Amino acid sequence: MELFLDTANINEISEINNMGIISGVTTNPSLITKEGKDFKETVKRIAEIVNGPISAEVNPNLTKAIDIINEAHVIAQIHPNIIIKIPMTEEGLKACKTLTREGIGVNMTLIFSANQALLCALSGARYVSPFVGRLDDIDIVGVDLIKSISKIFKQNSISTNIIAASIRNPLHVTECALAGADVITVPYKVIKQMIAHPLTDIGIEKFKKDYN
Ligand code: G3P
Repeated sequence: MELFLDTANINEISEINNMGIISGVTTNPSLITKEGKDFKETVKRIAEIVNGPISAEVNPNLTKAIDIINEAHVIAQIHPNIIIKIPMTEEGLKACKTLTREGIGVNMTLIFSANQALLCALSGARYVSPFVGRLDDIDIVGVDLIKSISKIFKQNSISTNIIAASIRNPLHVTECALAGADVITVPYKVIKQMIAHPLTDIGIEKFKKDYN
């Protein structure tokens, strides 16, 4: 299993990458806009920091496969490690099929059902991104979706990777890891929460006192 960082903030990425715990980065239009910088420049800088899959999302206003494909070709030129993130729609599936057969990695996003994930996998997606937190937000147990997709993919020898996304707390990470996610894409704040534990702090203070 791998951890990706779910942010477009260069400082956050540099800091966490130095710990050797992330294998990639995911972005989306909201995360890019939050940083307020040029999309291509931001994605390029991220790809130069983290040597792994960097998900960059196509313009969500594009509704035709041909337009999604054309934009994906431009984005893919930014860096060899770029993965094209495409929202799960009919036209998105068509674009996924074409791009996959061209050798361009696709991460199908905004996945909220096992059937959506299955269709994306059949279309050739390298990754599917089920959103755990947003299901929890509407009183549906998000991690159950990870369990279902993982069981379907394993039983049918489907190689598409599950990226558990929309992660809101450390418990989501543990639950998704137990549920069979191949990747969990984690916000900076949650990574920091995962590292810390009050008993560790208490133990360090005692060791320092005894050492001194
Ligand atoms: O990778 C998708 C993630 O950024 C969405 O998270 O908290 O907006 O549901 P959230």
